[in-house]
Amino acid sequence: MDAEKRTLVGVALASLAVVLAACGGDYPQSTLHPTADFGSEIDALYRTIVWWALGVFVVVETALIIAILKFRDRPGAPAPRHVHGSTLLEISWTLAPAVVLIFIAVPTIRTIFRTDGAPPEGAMQVEVVGHQWWWEFRYPDLGIVTANELRVPAGEPVTLVMTSADVIHSFWAPKLGGKRDVMPGRSTRISFTPDSVGVFFGQCAEFCGESHANMRMRVVVEDSAGFAAWVERERTAPPGAETLTGDLARGLEVFRTKGCMACHAIEGVAAGVLGPNLTHVGSRGTIAAGILPNTAEGLARWIRDPAGEKPGSLMPQMPMTEEELAALVAYLQSLN
Ligand code: CUA
Repeated sequence: MDAEKRTLVGVALASLAVVLAACGGDYPQSTLHPTADFGSEIDALYRTIVWWALGVFVVVETALIIAILKFRDRPGAPAPRHVHGSTLLEISWTLAPAVVLIFIAVPTIRTIFRTDGAPPEGAMQVEVVGHQWWWEFRYPDLGIVTANELRVPAGEPVTLVMTSADVIHSFWAPKLGGKRDVMPGRSTRISFTPDSVGVFFGQCAEFCGESHANMRMRVVVEDSAGFAAWVERERTAPPGAETLTGDLARGLEVFRTKGCMACHAIEGVAAGVLGPNLTHVGSRGTIAAGILPNTAEGLARWIRDPAGEKPGSLMPQMPMTEEELAALVAYLQSLN
């Protein structure tokens, strides 16, 4: 083998290794490790199609290699015989792909109907509203409104009834199930039953403006006890002005006087509807649709310059002193 061929073979083997390695890892948004029935349906379909594709690949490549070797040009060999039409061959190579397509189409259509059918009996309903650029989650039966972190119990069916407040978004939590458009003036639905406890990442999957890539979410799947405890916490109103003292009282005052309450709701304090409901913002792992950790530093960075953290953010920069900001951050963190 000369140097050039060795290089080519080396590159081909290295590429194959990279491709195979990319399939194996447990990446946070990989669809190859599903954690809900919907995701498993799609994964099974994907695997079925991969096996069919592999079969076709092997047959076609084997025929190709045999043809290349058997009919290659040799010194002094006569010109190949010309063949005009072969009914048997033509029928075979028309029928074979048709049969393969049927074996792919039937499970595909079955999966579409299964994952798009009526929600399972007794499914918990969550209303999802897409906003530029964050997710609102409302639990009408539980009286809970939250943002960017969807909490659901493992082993119980949930159905998301989704719409948008502005432009078209798309809900996609890859490990749980397929993506679905979220449109203004229309209602779309996605149902799944999570089978594993954990935190699963997702994001908007439809270009929706300059911070489309910053429209992330988390789906927190808990066991029933953990979920019940969360529901209990969420339904408890946070302490009002009369019980707060020191920094927290100061923070609440800043919240009220710096315009925050025009857009944000906090139960018993404010009823704004344009931005995320902050009643229990302290209990969330991230803020600003998953782009910043929910720490004192993350909150301060966000409030200081929302559009600097998330280009195009509709949340305005509210002028305030560092002392006011620190008090506001302390108050928001106390809302857990
Ligand atoms: Cu919302 Cu992209």
